[in-house]
Amino acid sequence: MLLLLTDRPDRTVALAQLLEQIAPCRVSTVQGRFPGRIEGALGLVADVDLLQPEAARSLRTLRGAAGGARTPLICLMRSMGERSLAEARSQGAELCLPGDTPIRTVAQAVLAHLRPASTGIEAVVARGAAETGTVITGLLDAARNGELVRAEAIDAGLTPVLTAVETGGLDRWLATVRSYDDATYQHCLLVTGLAATFAIDLGFSERDRQQIVRAALVHDVGKARIPLDVLNKPGRLDPAEQAVMRSHAAVGHRILVEAGGFDDLTLDVVRHHHEVLDGSGYPDGLAGSAISDPVRLVTICDIYAALVESRPYRAPMPSGEAVDVLLGMAGKLDMVLVHAFARSVSGT
Ligand SMILES: [Fe+2]
Ligand SMILES: [Fe+2]
Repeated sequence: MLLLLTDRPDRTVALAQLLEQIAPCRVSTVQGRFPGRIEGALGLVADVDLLQPEAARSLRTLRGAAGGARTPLICLMRSMGERSLAEARSQGAELCLPGDTPIRTVAQAVLAHLRPASTGIEAVVARGAAETGTVITGLLDAARNGELVRAEAIDAGLTPVLTAVETGGLDRWLATVRSYDDATYQHCLLVTGLAATFAIDLGFSERDRQQIVRAALVHDVGKARIPLDVLNKPGRLDPAEQAVMRSHAAVGHRILVEAGGFDDLTLDVVRHHHEVLDGSGYPDGLAGSAISDPVRLVTICDIYAALVESRPYRAPMPSGEAVDVLLGMAGKLDMVLVHAFARSVSGT
């Protein structure tokens, strides 16, 4: 969890949203009351005027509640004057940034100063989710803004997720990732973690693991170009909206082809992860042996993730029920792989 102390509500919403992409964020105001003790804080961001005694006092109290010096403190300064900086230093700030620093830069600084991973499994998983999540955010932002997606930048997200699921297990990864609000972001992290776990459990070599995780990480890049009212619509899509939504597979494929540098396996998964064995999938209506093993594998992770995701308007489906849905898709999914996947998510 990240803590944000603020006396500037106008800025807080955007900042908190961005911090949420690193870890669940708890916002406190200077006037607010703090509980006696806060467990598991990875960092504290203070966006307050430290020359105001009440703000300085609140910061001291909050940091104390969050474990004192063990929790890294980053101050967004209202002034870079000597008195303000002296107060920040006396509170133990690791980093002081000017108050008008772009919030994306603030988030990157927070990421760089998170409590070190050596403090436990939870931190390894949180850091893995944060690092892989940063890669996903960068990918979706670039695709949304029509910028060229950089294939090399994706690779920074592969080892963190593999390490996190290997160290902390799949359930911890799912619990961490499900606390994120943004649906596409949460979905991409879920599919990536599931694919990492599945690849490890199938005994894939390190190189093959990385390939599958790379493909899973970018599989829905096309969603960055889908209008938000369709993408985040609660409930059923009408036929026209469904056609728009379904375009994400071919759109994602085109984005990566235009970017260049992506391997054939990744391109195959991005274009075909909604194809099913009986030929009723999209965009190309592939059937049977025309659907490659990596595609089959990511498709299973993708369907399972969609079922167990947390949404504001519905409870996530329990794992056992989601596996039953997969088992009921004989004819569409590769059942040998589905059974192996069922063993993988149940940890047996
Ligand atoms: Fe998709
Ligand atoms: Fe997906």
